[in-house]
Amino acid sequence: MRNRRSALAAVATAASLALTLSACGQNSEGGSEEDKGGPEGATIGIAMPTKSSERWIADGNNVVKDLQSKGYKTKLVYGEDDPDQQVAQIENLITQGVKALIVASIDNKSMNNVLQQAKDADIPVISYDRLILGTENVGYYASFDNEKVGELQGDYILDKLGLKDGSEKGPFNIELFAGSNDDNNTRYFFQGAMNALKPYIDKKQLVVRSGQTELNQVTTLRWDGGTAQKRMDDILTSSYKTGRVDAVLSPYDGISIGILSALKSDDYGSKSKPLPIVTGQDAEVASVKSIIAGQQSMTVYKDTRELAKVATNMVDALLNDKEPEVNDTKTYHNGAKVVPAYLLEPVAVDEENYQEVVVDSGYIKESDLK
Ligand code: GAL
Repeated sequence: MRNRRSALAAVATAASLALTLSACGQNSEGGSEEDKGGPEGATIGIAMPTKSSERWIADGNNVVKDLQSKGYKTKLVYGEDDPDQQVAQIENLITQGVKALIVASIDNKSMNNVLQQAKDADIPVISYDRLILGTENVGYYASFDNEKVGELQGDYILDKLGLKDGSEKGPFNIELFAGSNDDNNTRYFFQGAMNALKPYIDKKQLVVRSGQTELNQVTTLRWDGGTAQKRMDDILTSSYKTGRVDAVLSPYDGISIGILSALKSDDYGSKSKPLPIVTGQDAEVASVKSIIAGQQSMTVYKDTRELAKVATNMVDALLNDKEPEVNDTKTYHNGAKVVPAYLLEPVAVDEENYQEVVVDSGYIKESDLK
């Protein structure tokens, strides 16, 4: 694992340089002789899962912008978290003659038939952020090092509880939340977090009073904040009549906000009952504001502008009969084959570094955090 990651980091650095260079190439070559007769003007279909979270809106917009800057036309659809609707939308895109598809799936196992249709029509498919499972007809995967996302969350909890370096502190109470069970990323995030947390659960320095420690007991369908809020409410009622929660593993900002609502309704955040450490992911505006307000503890920032570049570079390469750039050819077996991937690095963000990482980089406008 460690070796894979340091190798990955080295490749990622080289590759991000390559990306920058190829981006420059795009600019200087735009509209030049070499482009004539190429795929310029082709339409690319983009299927995103939902508009209910700001990250996917930004992802869709960034992919469109990048493709248009490369001379492509685009059709962008959102499936509103309904797998059937998303499949129907992709069928439509195929019928409309798109030349490639970029898909962030809702249910990773619902795509077999529709991707066969894509294959039959010779349309390459890029799996965007979430790996599509169970079909050979997904060409490439653009994502982040998803296990590392979980490790950053788990490590952060250990660090803030002072549980590192052989410390015998504790026991502390922790509750665990995971993402949607139909999203392949969920198990990578959870596994990564448990790599850090499980040794301390085994040593009883971390105690999960609810007893819910298995992935299938802690998932949150469609990453829904309200569902997480309800589960946290139930856990507080059943397992914390006495004592208090010291940490909550949350895989995603929308879930963290739900968990924090449940905690606040139970008087957490008052003088006698401080809020627990609560993790997150995506650096959504509401969560960064919550971090600044001293409520959510951290989030994991994933620069989705870079992800859009990776995916659109893959499409551009494929339509120009070139090999897309990848930096991982081992990790992501989708049940039918190992899908070659380009994985970006996630970054842990808290009140110490949010300004530098998410504001100074232009990801979030300072004025949006007021
Ligand atoms: C995952 C994604 C996370 C988060 C979550 C909920 O697939 O990797 O970053 O956005 O979906 O939307």
